[in-house]
Amino acid sequence: MGIDDSAWWQRGAIYQIYPRSFFDSNGDGIGDLDGIRRKLGHLVELGVDAAWISPFFPSPMADFGYDVADYCGVDPLFGTLADFDALIAEAHRLGLRIILDFVPNHTSDQHPWFLESRQGRESAKRDWYIWRDPAPDGGPPNNWMSNFGGSAWAFDAASGQYYYHAFLREQPDLNWRNPAVQDAMMEALRFWLERGVDGFRVDVIWHLVKDALFRDNPPNPGYGPGQPDINRFQQIRSTDQPEVFDIIARMRATLAAYGDRVLIGEIYLPVERLVAYYGERLEGVHLPFNFQLIAASWHARGLDEMIDEYERAIPEGGWPNWVLGNHDQKRIAGRLGAAQARVAAMLLLTLRGTPTIYYGDELGLPNVPVPPELAQDPWEKNEPGLGVGRDPARAPMRWNDSPRAGFTTGTPWLPIGPQPELNVATEAADPRSMLALHRRLLALRRAHPALAVGGYERIEAEGDLLAYRRREGGEVLTVVLNLSAREESLDLPAPAGGWRCLVSTGLDREGPEPAGPLRLRPDEGVVLAEG
Ligand code: GLC
Repeated sequence: MGIDDSAWWQRGAIYQIYPRSFFDSNGDGIGDLDGIRRKLGHLVELGVDAAWISPFFPSPMADFGYDVADYCGVDPLFGTLADFDALIAEAHRLGLRIILDFVPNHTSDQHPWFLESRQGRESAKRDWYIWRDPAPDGGPPNNWMSNFGGSAWAFDAASGQYYYHAFLREQPDLNWRNPAVQDAMMEALRFWLERGVDGFRVDVIWHLVKDALFRDNPPNPGYGPGQPDINRFQQIRSTDQPEVFDIIARMRATLAAYGDRVLIGEIYLPVERLVAYYGERLEGVHLPFNFQLIAASWHARGLDEMIDEYERAIPEGGWPNWVLGNHDQKRIAGRLGAAQARVAAMLLLTLRGTPTIYYGDELGLPNVPVPPELAQDPWEKNEPGLGVGRDPARAPMRWNDSPRAGFTTGTPWLPIGPQPELNVATEAADPRSMLALHRRLLALRRAHPALAVGGYERIEAEGDLLAYRRREGGEVLTVVLNLSAREESLDLPAPAGGWRCLVSTGLDREGPEPAGPLRLRPDEGVVLAEG
């Protein structure tokens, strides 16, 4: 694909904003929409193309906005619809796209639809949710578990039935087999499309349809002590059902009526199932989020194999994408350490496919320890001590090195954490910082179609070196990454004019390379041009 026939969401980079934690404009300790608007300059200077904003819709906040009580509004905590309109107008003026988080699998238990549904078996909206009679012993209808611990079925004494909730009991699942539900949700998409949003990231899209017969999930042989409840069974009946693809196609068609909008699906599935979500005739999501770098162990040979397998699994015409972190996962700097996090950034931003950067990872933010009494995440509260808590990755963005990091004038909803030097102001002034590296790599992506849209070619390497080429038109760029803390060298035949280093993760190596094998310092990655 050439740069001219690429879509913005193919050549561009996406930046995820968790709105509670980005910038607080009114001093209540929680970020808001006006805060995002005021900080859009950071995204422009970083060099990303779109912001995906996690939910800001009216919500009781049982799961911090992933429990939506009104799909067509803004929670007062985050501002007003007018604030949203101002945000999107400013973003578009700056050349940034805005992607919303669409949460169709479940609503809040306070959504008017659910309040009506639970009125009783005769309710007109009864079938909008998933109600089942108890098992013969009076227990839950089957063995499906909640992702946040315990059974996924909640008993409603008044009607004598259970309702299904794949997440919290405050998040009842909608019944997507009901056409009225589909119609109502397409309306919600159109509400935001009309307001100019450029696309949606669809929450747990592989969950939308469940087995029509509600059969038990089979046990998971890999389950053992210390693991969360959700690992007890393989989720093969409760998720990833064939009927989901018609629904996704309907979402896609709804977007298509508005032109160049993007549909992204949150999908945690093995690669062969993941790629099914492009759709058989590419009528599925444009980007099935690819979380393999999050799950992968950090070894060059394994990563090389994984990238190659993914490249080969993508259907003709499908476009790859890569993710290093999000609001549900441990931060990359915490997982790999500061030095390898730089190598990971180079990998993310030089692989073929759309990269998504999680806010704060461009600063190298750590996982921020949260003492149990300050825990916010409902999953952590339901299953404490297992290490499932998501608060550490949701700590406030850091704008400067002041005690509240320039995030708020009030009390931040989560602690700011250690290492105050990791912040936008300090790093912007340091030409070797993690922020500087991100800006440099994103600028390079924009300047070189080979990186933005070019082909991917594996290079044979050994040990902890990962190497590949990106090629577009006449341009070839070579990326070599040292995933170890030792010096490594690679005997790669030099091109006629020799190698020229465009950027190193150390930001201290540019220009012609000496002849002979390529030498990589510990934890170093380089992007090389020919001649
Ligand atoms: C997705 C979200 C996560 C949320 C869950 C339930 O996985 O990313 O934060 O808790 O769905 O909506």
